[in-house]
Amino acid sequence: MLPCINWLQSFLALISITLLTQGHNCPSSCLCPDHHTVDCTGQGLTRVPDYIPLDVRRILLSNNWIPWIPSDFLVLYSDLVYLDLRNNSLSRLDPGTLGTSSRLVFLDLGRNNLTEIPSGTFGESRSLIKLRLGNNPHLNMVGRDAFTGLTSLRELELEKNGLTHLDVSILESLPSLRMLRLEGNPWFCSCHFAKLFVWLMENRHKLLEGMEGIECSLPLDGRHVPLSLLSEDSFRECSGALTLTDYLIVIFSGISVSVAAIMASFFLASTVHCFQRLSKGSKGDEEEGNG
Ligand SMILES: *[C@@H]1O[C@H](CO)[C@@H](O)[C@H](O)[C@H]1NC(C)=O
Ligand SMILES: *[C@@H]1O[C@H](CO)[C@@H](O)[C@H](O)[C@H]1NC(C)=O
Repeated sequence: MLPCINWLQSFLALISITLLTQGHNCPSSCLCPDHHTVDCTGQGLTRVPDYIPLDVRRILLSNNWIPWIPSDFLVLYSDLVYLDLRNNSLSRLDPGTLGTSSRLVFLDLGRNNLTEIPSGTFGESRSLIKLRLGNNPHLNMVGRDAFTGLTSLRELELEKNGLTHLDVSILESLPSLRMLRLEGNPWFCSCHFAKLFVWLMENRHKLLEGMEGIECSLPLDGRHVPLSLLSEDSFRECSGALTLTDYLIVIFSGISVSVAAIMASFFLASTVHCFQRLSKGSKGDEEEGNG
């Protein structure tokens, strides 16, 4: 009889400890529907809540006013698989903040106020499958290596941002990409855009809204043209011909080559001159010694 009561007591104690810690660990003004989920959607939060359980797997923070993510956020929650920060006030992502997570599968940063996705932002987030970055109206810069290391990424959303161009190597660096959204950006149909256009033609099955959904504005009159109306021929003048930037690079490298050549010959001439004087000097010494 007695051992049985002892066992029951410890069982009850265990249960109450579990319940207590669970209750204790749920941040105030958030819900914790299960042991691995913290749901703080639409709570008017102006910062990421404290006291999130360290073994959390899903954090829902959409529809708040959070302006930044602490740089150790993903270091702390290393089991995190799902992070929803949609519709907040994020204006920048500090380097390293999102690069440390090896488990993160879903990341929603859509509908914020990001202006730039710098190279290396996501580091080696090899598990990331879905990345939502759309509806950041001032987002006009994506670094060339912004998405390198995202080897599992299948879905990338960049719609309704402020992008006028995108380096095609950014998309080429995503081996698992299946779905891409680029519509609603102020694309500029320049020669710079030609490479992206060719890539899009070859990968149009990956575009959620197809080529029709994407428009670019013409350099001459700013008219918007759906990409579906364009062909590689539309950019024919670009192939082989040099763009203005190319010309500038050629001219400037030409100038710097000539400057370097002039400096090199000047240096050579003075060295030769110097050696001549030296050798004359030592000859003179020898002659003096002999005499
Ligand atoms: C964004 O969040 C704010 C604040 O919670 C809310 O009022 C608004 O309706 C949300 N917008 C969208 C599109 O969900
Ligand atoms: C969003 O960013 C832009 C450009 O940095 C800034 O002018 C604007 O005030 C920001 N908007 C909000 C709501 O923070």
